[in-house]
Amino acid sequence: MHSGGNASSLPLVGGAPEPTINQLSKPGRRASRFPKLDVPVTEINNSAIRNDKPSLPEVSEHDLVMHYSRLAHRNFAVDVGFYPLGSCTMKYNPRFADYVAGLNTFANSHPATPSAFTQGNLEVLHELEKFLIEITGMDNATFQPPAGASGELTGLLIIKKYLEENNLTNKTDIIVPDSAHGTNPASAKMAGFNVVEVSTDVRGMVNIDDLKELVNENTAGLMLTNPNTGGLFEENIMEISNIIHENGGLVYYDGANLNAIVGVCRPGDMGFDIVHSNLHKTFATPHGGGGPGSGPVAVKAFLKEYLPGPIVEKNENNYEWYMPKLSIGRMHGYHGNFLVALRALVYMKLLGKEGLDTLGSYAVLNARYLSSVISKVIPLAYNEPCMHEFVATVKDLKKSHKIKAYDVGKALLDKGFHSPTIYFPLIIEEALMFEPTETQTVDTLDDLAETLKAIIDELQGEDVSLEEYPKNLPVGRPNELIPAKHLTVNWGDFELLELTE
Ligand SMILES: Cc1ncc(COP(=O)(O)O)c(C=O)c1O
Repeated sequence: MHSGGNASSLPLVGGAPEPTINQLSKPGRRASRFPKLDVPVTEINNSAIRNDKPSLPEVSEHDLVMHYSRLAHRNFAVDVGFYPLGSCTMKYNPRFADYVAGLNTFANSHPATPSAFTQGNLEVLHELEKFLIEITGMDNATFQPPAGASGELTGLLIIKKYLEENNLTNKTDIIVPDSAHGTNPASAKMAGFNVVEVSTDVRGMVNIDDLKELVNENTAGLMLTNPNTGGLFEENIMEISNIIHENGGLVYYDGANLNAIVGVCRPGDMGFDIVHSNLHKTFATPHGGGGPGSGPVAVKAFLKEYLPGPIVEKNENNYEWYMPKLSIGRMHGYHGNFLVALRALVYMKLLGKEGLDTLGSYAVLNARYLSSVISKVIPLAYNEPCMHEFVATVKDLKKSHKIKAYDVGKALLDKGFHSPTIYFPLIIEEALMFEPTETQTVDTLDDLAETLKAIIDELQGEDVSLEEYPKNLPVGRPNELIPAKHLTVNWGDFELLELTE
């Protein structure tokens, strides 16, 4: 079995599950001391004083440090190994961007500070807006949405308000491909639209005949990601956007897959009216684990006044906040996740024009290389040249050996690779979606392909119990449904859940 750089260098710790910080607690232990009081003691009104001590874990400082360091070592991360999680663009985040975001002047600036004292911050947003509108082919942008899904909702609320302002309230339908990310129909519904599903053809593209039949005077717009979730470029994109525009609808670009086209082509030139970009994907700001994200929304000039406000404008001598006149209102407190936006600007400046012009091409090159080697192990879902990601399927292995996409993902974890995205898009049976990104070397891609081949051989062995994979990790196959259905962040309640049921 080939054990490449990723697999051998992983500091994963096996063994029993880590005790929680509450389980480590012993009465009287302390990890911190309060400084001596340097203000006079003030009596507090009795009714405001609590009667019992807060129930906090009591641990020594060393225990505390060891506990969280051990947990950190057990965590899989972009900095630890290859993370080919399709549709998530888990690329390397340069350290320099973190360094800049940590500078005192940026990290400690309060968003309520008057703009006269935060000209540098406003300049950051203005500069980034210029880059983004150049990259996407749009005219103006807002940084309020804290994630892609929030960007989608922002875009759809803009469409809604635009239609209301233009007395087009009969337009109630948003068309969404059946291959779309779940957030697309969810956002359309949340914005108060009906969701109309358009099918995918045998080659993995939007079914144009179906689209023509679905479009009518009630069509408010279409949401599309291009390349689509199958990793394929919609070759009829101009026809698609024309069909929607001719019927008075607007076209929304889900920019989660922007990584494939940066420096190659622009959503604005494909006819899109509104675009969100996931800075936490394409522009190498940390992503995953629910951390802060940024899903700025860029629009064509005719929609500028609908943007959530305030947005930054540059006057002769300074930068100012401007409230668009027909604004849909706020989507986030203050101005979005500023430090995430800052990291994206640093990343763009680090790459420069040359780097940004080749970003998409290298991402596609890596994906095409990986797809060509992986297709020798498991078949691809579509026999079309992929863009920045591709989908393979183990549906035949499921029939012949009961091997599911889930089993392959779990076995990969054992070998030091993060699993590809599985069971997405929903229209592809036993899907495994790989996205290598441009930041991986060819050696790592080869390493993954060889490991995958070894795993598939191993899983087909006679005495293999598929449920046993992963074999070497502290957590194997947790029940993913229970925490999703019974979301609880309270330790007392959490303890009651049978997570491995
Ligand atoms: C195609 C697509 N659209 C939308 C989203 C939503 O983005 P976010 O996770 O930032 O809300 C994702 C996220 O993975 C995606 O892959």
